[in-house]
Amino acid sequence: MAGSGTWWKEEVVYQIYPRSFKDSNNDGIGDIRGITEKLDYLKELGITMLWICPIYQSPMDDNGYDISDYCALAPEFGTMEDLDELIAEAGRKGIKIILDLVINHTSDEHQWFREALEHPDSGFHDYYIFREGSKPPCNWRSIFGGSVWEKVEGRDEYYFHAFGKKQPDLNWENEKLRRQLYNMVNGWLEKGIAGFRIDAITFIKKDLSFADREPDGVDGLAKCTKGSRNQPGIGAFLKELKQETFDKHGCVTVAEAPGVPYEDLDEFIGPDGYFSMIFDFRYADLDIASGSEWFKRRSWNVRELGGKIMDSQMAVQKYGWSANFIENHDQPRATTKYLKEAQDDPQAVKMLAAMYFFLRGTPFIYQGQELGMVNFERQSPELFNDISSIDQYQRSLEEGLDPDEALRIVNLRSRDNARTPFPWDGSRYGGFSQSRPWLPMTMEYPVIHAEAQSGVQDSVLEFYKSMIQFRQHGPYRDCLIYGSIRPIESSGNVIAYERQKDDVTIWCYYNFSHTGTQERLPDDAAGAVGIWGNDTDAEIRDGMLCLKPFQAILLKQDVPQSGTHS
Ligand code: NOJ
Ligand code: CA
Repeated sequence: MAGSGTWWKEEVVYQIYPRSFKDSNNDGIGDIRGITEKLDYLKELGITMLWICPIYQSPMDDNGYDISDYCALAPEFGTMEDLDELIAEAGRKGIKIILDLVINHTSDEHQWFREALEHPDSGFHDYYIFREGSKPPCNWRSIFGGSVWEKVEGRDEYYFHAFGKKQPDLNWENEKLRRQLYNMVNGWLEKGIAGFRIDAITFIKKDLSFADREPDGVDGLAKCTKGSRNQPGIGAFLKELKQETFDKHGCVTVAEAPGVPYEDLDEFIGPDGYFSMIFDFRYADLDIASGSEWFKRRSWNVRELGGKIMDSQMAVQKYGWSANFIENHDQPRATTKYLKEAQDDPQAVKMLAAMYFFLRGTPFIYQGQELGMVNFERQSPELFNDISSIDQYQRSLEEGLDPDEALRIVNLRSRDNARTPFPWDGSRYGGFSQSRPWLPMTMEYPVIHAEAQSGVQDSVLEFYKSMIQFRQHGPYRDCLIYGSIRPIESSGNVIAYERQKDDVTIWCYYNFSHTGTQERLPDDAAGAVGIWGNDTDAEIRDGMLCLKPFQAILLKQDVPQSGTHS
């Protein structure tokens, strides 16, 4: 529907976690009509595309990432008519919609899986990965803890699940299954959506030897990713998926593709790549020692963060386009994670926002990020809803952490931090619902909410609006969207990069410190002036830029460069 080409480079995407965005019928659960009600808010913010997390029928063991019917919606989210209305209303406002595509696994309550269990001789049995035996075929650990193998009740047989045990992995080796999936994908695209965010897609190919690996935890298990993520041969599946579905519709695809080495980016996002863009988690997870295990933490500093971001940008720039983000429904709030004790300082929050927003790529904003929301610290492990938080708490105890430390660590990283209901106003339940929400509001919602910031000059929300406006419609739009990027040498607490297109060069500086600092500007930046920022006052002395605490500033030469037109 959206045509071919690379139109998606010009989008600003807003991610909605539908359970927590807006509850239209006051049952405590956000829903599709709630999103439609808030389209004016989104339009005013300036975003151009929505990514809506799964809304399909699901027992909600993993909040919708466990789908029991790809063609039906979860009743708590609404009806197909509600979705049609949302797509149409959003379209009228110039807002495109992408949905989540979860095709590595289904729910164990999916009809295919039920058939596979009830009729092991039917074709559905081979839609999943079963192995016979009286013990688990290998010692791999699932992402949400415990073995990847779950015993089939009453039979000496196990099925494979890379995530939760209610999320059996589909067997992509089965061609009939692949065809079924492609038909389903095409059906959704024909409905008029602009594309998909694609879940856990690098998991679809497994190392079928299922050989034991060296245990890496006190549970005697070994992380499953080495044998179940980005395995040799995955390219054939991804290529076929693209040809049979996405290519036919000119749609946008943003893949959650952890584990892709930079040298393979050409295959994934090059001119003939499988996807339009992929998320790079290397800098999002820089506080974790080993992949998805939160309790193995490591310290980091701004130089390292800047290094990882720029490595990612430079690697992607060689072949394709980035999907830039600092938050999503699996990550803690960026304020708490990246700013630590400065999380409540609006100037710092704005600086962080601008730092990632003007990188080369399509920016993604997660709901509530535009308000500067912070993590929600829970006082007891029972208060977590997220299956992975519950597992991480248990595993950290098993690994020898004391309960207070375990709770502290899970609080820092829990996916529930970002999943709290959206605070629309300061009323009871924050205007999200008139009933008690499925997950408690954050402690700060009486202060941090949309109404308190809307139209308020220096608010974080108004800053986001101005930032989006500047990228999308400002005088340097072409450079800020399409310009190349390169890092600029800077001191430890400053991240700096240059964007350049034709005769326009923009130097971007972000001071992550609560103290001022001085940076030597590139030689060609002589005469530069501040064109945008959280403080556009550029104090330059002898080629040194004096940055104020948490200042974010974009600089450009005041006079046209020689030999170029203005
Ligand atoms: C990644 C999703 O973002 C996450 O929320 C989910 O739990 C897993 N994939 C499994 O689908
Ligand atoms: Ca509802």
